[in-house]
Parts: sequence; structure tokens; C-alpha cells
Amino acid sequence: MPLDIVVGAQWGDEGKGRIVDLLSAQADYVARYNGGDNAGHTVTVGDQTFRLHLIPSGVIHPHTIGAIGNGVVINPATLLSEIESVRAAGVPLDANRLKISYAAHLITPGHRALDAAQEAARGGEAIGTTLRGIGPAYADKVARSGIRLGQMLDVGTFGEALQVHLLSVNQRLQELYTAEPLNAQAVIKEYLEYARQMKNYIGDVSTLLSEALKSGKRVLAEGAQGTLLDLDHGTYPFVTSSYPSAAGALIGLGLGLGCEQRVVGVTKAFQTRVGAGPFPSEVFGSIAERLRGTGEHPWDEFGTTTGRPRRVGWIDMVLLRYAGRINGLTELAITKLDILSGLEEVKICVAYKADGQTYQNLPLGPSDLGAFSPVYETLPGWREDLWECRTWESLPPAARSYILRVEELSGVPVRLTSVGPEREQIVEIA
Ligand code: IMP
Repeated sequence: MPLDIVVGAQWGDEGKGRIVDLLSAQADYVARYNGGDNAGHTVTVGDQTFRLHLIPSGVIHPHTIGAIGNGVVINPATLLSEIESVRAAGVPLDANRLKISYAAHLITPGHRALDAAQEAARGGEAIGTTLRGIGPAYADKVARSGIRLGQMLDVGTFGEALQVHLLSVNQRLQELYTAEPLNAQAVIKEYLEYARQMKNYIGDVSTLLSEALKSGKRVLAEGAQGTLLDLDHGTYPFVTSSYPSAAGALIGLGLGLGCEQRVVGVTKAFQTRVGAGPFPSEVFGSIAERLRGTGEHPWDEFGTTTGRPRRVGWIDMVLLRYAGRINGLTELAITKLDILSGLEEVKICVAYKADGQTYQNLPLGPSDLGAFSPVYETLPGWREDLWECRTWESLPPAARSYILRVEELSGVPVRLTSVGPEREQIVEIA
């Protein structure tokens, strides 16, 4: 069945929004399956730039129907203001075009306060979360004390659930973290109003998408974050609290096994990371500044959600091979190839070294990456600006060699590369 999954092959921020935008032109449904408003997807169309955190970025194509699955955690304030901003940009978006699973969980100010308190308590061991309440919301879900969107449909029980939740949050804030308690009545009032505004959007996303797939409609599942931030398969504990990897799409949308066709792994032509945690191919100094940019362009490496400068490094094949395996990638899309233009030489991390041994693959997954140093292969760079390139043949030979080498080392065919920030600045590779 025609389910395509777009998944981040690195630590998030791979430019999935661009690839989703391209693929959603052929999709009937576009669906978010994990994470919350910790994600930031930027899509530029003409002179309009959409910065979306929660709504699937494919909805900017008016022919699609958007869905947010049970695997997502929802901050209603972000959701409602995003719906408004999409509408204000002239894209029609109402409850007929956007369905949110009744089984998705709510993020409250309580979760955000706990996120901040927990990060502060970690001190030097802080994860560097986005402070959006993501971890505490998923923790409540797993502890079976979370609040699901379906509960918003009954104002009475919703109010009671909020009451119980806020009592527990305030206890935790005061007793564990000596933090200020929240004004429960104010939060309840705010959330009852959100319930009123959101009720028409709440539905059964699993049935909606399963029926769509059965009738041959194309569904595009949009991952947020990336494989290396996956709760189980990422660089634990420096991970997010959801399942960004491809299998998360099935769980997070309520779809059965076997409906996926393409699993597209999106990777930058280099590597970036926000927040703390190991990063073997990280670079510093002038080359880092060159890869990151200064912050004056929208595509420079500063977080869409937090504005934090991203850590940068060379592309890492040990991790890309791992992402290929964990996700069952059928193809790769390489973004931001144009950023490498003008470099004398480009490096690819092909293996790791530790204790005199060389590793092509990780012996125990990516959690203990701190123990490894990178082994690089150096390729000639290219001077040419790539912004006008639209075909494989128009790419400079050195850029083509770079792509072919990534394909060879990762074992996954490269089908696309982006050569600039605009929608059409894409080279499809046959
Ligand atoms: P949390 O998801 O806010 O709990 O943050 C956990 C880790 O995931 C931190 O290192 C964040 O910087 C990282 N993270 C969360 N969302 C994103 C994203 O969309 N892109 C990149 N990193 C992210």
C-alpha cells in the first residue's frame, strides 16, 4: 500500500520540510507521527516562508488532507496559532482539512514547567531540551496519567483530568524541584477554551489513514527530529522522548505493518546537532563557522524552534549506515549540498577509531559515541555555485563524486539533492 515515510537520518534539522514539500505534491494525505512543537520545519514557497512546528508541512499544498497521529504530543496554543498563521498566508485550513488523533496526548504548562525544572536540576548533565515540555508529556503518557485529546470532547471530565494533573504537577514542582507552583484555575480556564476551539479537529486518524491506504490513496508520513534522537535507537540519554525512526510512523499513526513503500532518509551534506551529547565528526573554528553560517540567512544553522546555534561537522557514514539499517531506508535525499561549494576539500567520516581498533559499524549502537574518534576520507571540493543546477549532469564532477561516494559508503541509493533554499532548487537523480 502506498505509504511513504520521510525520516530524519541524523539528529534532526536535516531539511525534511523541503523533501516533504516535494513529495506531498503527489500525496493525498500528509501526516505527522511523532514529537511535538520541539520540531521546526521550514518551507519556502516564493517569497513566503512557513515555519511549522506541529502541523504536517505538506498541508501547505491545498489538495492534501493533514493528519496528526496518536504518537504526537500537542501544545494547543502552538497548534491553534499555527492554524491561524497558515490561514493568514492564504492556505485554507479547517477541520475538514486537518484531523488530529483522539489518542494524541496534550502538553500543558505543567509539562513545560517540569521540563525547565528537570533541566535545571541536571546542571552540567543537562540534555539541552527545547523546553517545550516534550519529555514530561511522554513520561505522563507512559505512566498512564497523561491527558489525551479525546478527553477534550467532554468538558466535565476534561476539567477534572486537568485538576488531577495540575495537582500532581504542582506537588512535583514544589517537592522535587522547589519551583513555583502553577495557577491551576488559570490553566484550566485556558485549556477549556482550547477544547472548545479544537473539538472539531479531533477524530480517528488511524481509521482515516487506513481506509485511505486501502482505497489506493497516497499517504506521506512526516517524521520530526531524526533517527539519532530516537528514544530507543538514538544517542541515549541525549535523545528526544518519541520515536522519530520509520517504525514510529506505523505506531504513531495507528497503521498496520507492511503498508510502507518508500522510506526516504533525509541527510544534510554535512552533520549538525543541537543540544548536548556526543558528536564524533564535530568541527570547530573557521570551518565550523563556514558550515554553520553567521545567522543572517534563514538557512544558516540556527535552531528554528530555539534559535540556538547548531553544532556542525562532516557527514558521518558510520551513523548513516546505522540510520539505513534502523529505518530500512529505501533511498536518501541529501540537503544543502550547495553549502559545501567553495571548499578546497570535503571530508567524509568513513569509520571510527578507539583503542587502536577501527570500526566500520557501531559495536553497541550510538549511545557511547564519546569513545570514538573519526577516520576521514578527503575528497576534492568544487568551486561552482550550485543554485542553478537542476540535473545530475549540471552538477560539477566533484559534487557528483561526493554523492556517489555517500551512496556507496551508506549502501542506500541517493535519489534527490537540494542545491538551494527555494522549492525548485532540487536535483532529482534517476
Ligand atoms: P526535547 O525533544 O525538547 O526533549 O529535547 C531533547 C533533545 O532533542 C535535545 O538535544 C534537543 O535539542 C533535541 N531536539 C528536539 N527536537 C529537535 C528538532 O526538531 N531538531 C533537532 N533537535 C531536536
